[in-house]
Amino acid sequence: MRTITTQLFPTSSGEFAFKSLRSLWPRNTTNHKDLAMTKLKEIINNPNILITSSGRSSIATLLESLKIGSGDEVILQSFTCSVVASSILSTGATPVYADINPDTLNISPESLRKTISPRTKIVIFQHTFGSNEDLSRIANICRSKDILLLEDKAHILGNGKLVGDMAIGSFGRSKWLSSIIGGFIETKEENLLSSCQLIEDGKQLINYPKLELLLLNPSIVEFLIKPSLGQFKIGEVLMELLSWIGILTHEVEDKEKEGKLGRISRIKFPLPLYELLNSELSKFEDNKKLRNNAVNTYLKKLNPKLIFKGFTKTFPYLYFPLKVEDPQSLYLHAKKHKIYLGNWYYPAISPPGSNYLNLKYDPTKCPNAEQVSPHIVNLPTFANEKEVQRVVEVINNY
Ligand SMILES: Cc1ncc(COP(=O)(O)O)c(C=O)c1O
Repeated sequence: MRTITTQLFPTSSGEFAFKSLRSLWPRNTTNHKDLAMTKLKEIINNPNILITSSGRSSIATLLESLKIGSGDEVILQSFTCSVVASSILSTGATPVYADINPDTLNISPESLRKTISPRTKIVIFQHTFGSNEDLSRIANICRSKDILLLEDKAHILGNGKLVGDMAIGSFGRSKWLSSIIGGFIETKEENLLSSCQLIEDGKQLINYPKLELLLLNPSIVEFLIKPSLGQFKIGEVLMELLSWIGILTHEVEDKEKEGKLGRISRIKFPLPLYELLNSELSKFEDNKKLRNNAVNTYLKKLNPKLIFKGFTKTFPYLYFPLKVEDPQSLYLHAKKHKIYLGNWYYPAISPPGSNYLNLKYDPTKCPNAEQVSPHIVNLPTFANEKEVQRVVEVINNY
């Protein structure tokens, strides 16, 4: 029985791990870079694209090129990852949190209106799990107030044409499509992309021992950790140990939880990863189909009371969110069946241990996010029909 997981490279496979290992050998990547760029432009439907090391570094680069900094405010939603806020803080600007619409898990237009101040320079619209409900309303508000709009598409790839002024995407390990690490910037204006390019050109190359570790990560997870998860906790202990000694990279560094910029934001996208990215991008349509089918089954077979009102259409979400009374006991129940469900985002600014004070987050100002967050469970959508059936049975028998 294959372990199903929402984190730890959920889109990985033996083939992905093998391809990552193969990239350890120096090879000519120019061709893969060109092919990957062509595919990405086609999927995104925009020629103004720049590949970066991550979604978080894309946010920091965009803000820096827009000269957003000290004295400026950037609005983001609660129910998010702390790296979004630490990227804002790295520019000297202040993150200001708007509450979410508890049905869509996106930023609430009503809360956004109340959060805008004369210092607001830009609003970040997060496509939570891929959903962009309310995006046009948010875009109208921004337009009417002459405020820029940045779409955070870290959870999805190819979610329609750009509505805002710019967007970021992610190829991180737990994302819709992964090249271990990676991200991109998408802009409406060519000039903005050129200034982002200048900033990115000034970033460091990843130093090679670290790249080698990165390329080993999928194999470690696929062949060592995943098969031994749950077996006397060997996988869990291995994961802790390998993370502790620095072999398995953390998705969020401790300093990022404290509101500082992490190492990933200082590097360029490593060239050897283009081969992996190119190969994953060619599976875009299959990936979309797989996720659509999974969501379709969840919608048909799960108790509608558990489903958020904004997630009732067939759509290739990154994860399918459910609201349950006691997520902790559901996680434990699912684990017994080798299913590792996700908890994005619990707490409301994740991961656990994020320093709310440094990240300038006041939970009392975002009651919807605080109410939803302790009841959230993420179901995998990158799973075949049989696996989805297993997840459904586990939930329905719980
Ligand atoms: C909403 C959101 N935006 C941005 C990011 C950052 O993406 P990356 O991991 O590529 O830096 C994340 C990371 O999980 C995220 O959840």
